[in-house]
Amino acid sequence: MILVGGLAALLQAFVSLSATAKVLIAVSSAAALISLCFYAAGAQDPDENSPDSLSGWNLLAIVPFFDTRFDFLNAAFQHSGQSIFKFKLLQNTVIAVSGAEGRKDFLTSRGLDINEGFKLLSGAIPMLPGVTSDLQARRIATIHKRLSMAQTSEHLSRLLPKILDDGERLMGLWGNSGTIDIFDCIPRMFFQTSVRCLSATEIADDDDAVARLKQLYDTLDTATTPASVLFPWFPSPSMISKLVATVKIYKIVNGVVQKRTQSGVVEDDTLQILVDNADDKMVMIGFIMGLLVAGARSTGTTASWLTIFLAGHPEWRMKAREEAESLLLTHSCYSPGDSVKSALASIPLEIWENETPIFDSLIRETLRLAQPHTAMRRNMGPDAYIGGKRVPSGSYVVYPFSDVHLDSELYPDPWTFNPARPENKTPHSWIGWGGGTTVCMGQRLARLSLKLITALMLLELDFDLVDRRTGQPPLVLPQPNWNDALTCKPDNEDTRHMRYRRRQCMAKS
Ligand code: HEM
Repeated sequence: MILVGGLAALLQAFVSLSATAKVLIAVSSAAALISLCFYAAGAQDPDENSPDSLSGWNLLAIVPFFDTRFDFLNAAFQHSGQSIFKFKLLQNTVIAVSGAEGRKDFLTSRGLDINEGFKLLSGAIPMLPGVTSDLQARRIATIHKRLSMAQTSEHLSRLLPKILDDGERLMGLWGNSGTIDIFDCIPRMFFQTSVRCLSATEIADDDDAVARLKQLYDTLDTATTPASVLFPWFPSPSMISKLVATVKIYKIVNGVVQKRTQSGVVEDDTLQILVDNADDKMVMIGFIMGLLVAGARSTGTTASWLTIFLAGHPEWRMKAREEAESLLLTHSCYSPGDSVKSALASIPLEIWENETPIFDSLIRETLRLAQPHTAMRRNMGPDAYIGGKRVPSGSYVVYPFSDVHLDSELYPDPWTFNPARPENKTPHSWIGWGGGTTVCMGQRLARLSLKLITALMLLELDFDLVDRRTGQPPLVLPQPNWNDALTCKPDNEDTRHMRYRRRQCMAKS
């Protein structure tokens, strides 16, 4: 508490500095960055089992690791002529891995730690000393345990109608017809459902609080720069805005946690699971702050791309709508004129989970083609071997999902969206929810939310993709930009719009 208070005071002091003082600090940050870059240019390792270093690449060339990671890694693999190479980020060794053998070793090596990897290399998770950056293994284990409790069939069945309520309410704000930017409205909707499912009713029911939180999390994304990742302790402007946003998020979450624990009020929500288990406050705050990042961003991105693909591919939109209609007619008591949302809410969880082959294949193909993830780990065990190359204890390892998901031997014509692709049986050839020792712990909730909101949209709206300049379907369908490491938003903003019109009520066949 004292720590956070002190931190807030320090931030306040910085914010009130004169413009000149801020410029001086920023200039000295840049000077330090440049000198450290030159200091860090790596030397070759004489060990023959060590991966080759990128020769002729100094740290300035490695800034693209943060800005244009897909291009950087592709070019570097090509330049090195190897499937595994290493480079330096300041004093840290980072080993980049590709290929089937490297992938298997990367995913299954026990000493590789995801939390330590993300701490240095991601920079997009709010790091608040004592709250999120210093969560000990014991607290992380408790958070993971509570996350599985939040995804028992019983709890998910209770969340199911609430997710649909939120979806219906936000879609209602769009009106009966119009055009929306998919990458604005869809992440907003999934941020709301994530807040609903991973935090507290008091926040989820408060539109202003949700909007504020969304804006703060967006600030964290935009404030993540190479400098803020490499020198998180340095008061660069981006580091300051990131810290300010993190402290504000902390205050919102802390306020709700404190009120709930002190008032003894009982709610039917996920925070209550933590309260009932008498978890310590740092676990509660870490759970909400950390999982909102993990959950809302990835679910919002996947949902946005799923919507783009459905809007741009009428044949798949039709198949998905038929599946949603069939669920409604077979597993609910829907009659024309009834509320579609209420009917969907009455469909049992196990039907949503096990009897939606079209939705499953749509999600699978979306996660293959539009998830620009690079898995990051730190070797916290003894030296390990990946693809026959030595990974020293303490070094960092990265594996870009593009290596497998865009491999034309595994996926012919890899940039084409085709949910009818046969499932490849090669081990670890599809890792949309992770693989080996690290798989997504929120996937049950994420899949359910994606299916519910998509079904609602398909049944309540007619929609297609539109180029906002011409008002016509785009000549070329948007393609995921893998250099945008968080959302892979298409480069052309004009073609990511959806035109929609509310449908007449569905007839019962
Ligand atoms: C469509 C949405 C989602 C996608 C595509 C997704 C994907 C993934 C992937 C690929 C990983 C493995 C990362 C790696 O190996 O580096 C992962 C891990 C994880 N995910 Fe998700 N995720 C989604 C939603 C969620 C949600 C909603 C939550 C929480 C409620 C969540 C919680 C986690 C956690 C805690 C881990 C780390 C597991 C560990 O430490 O072993 N994810 N996710």
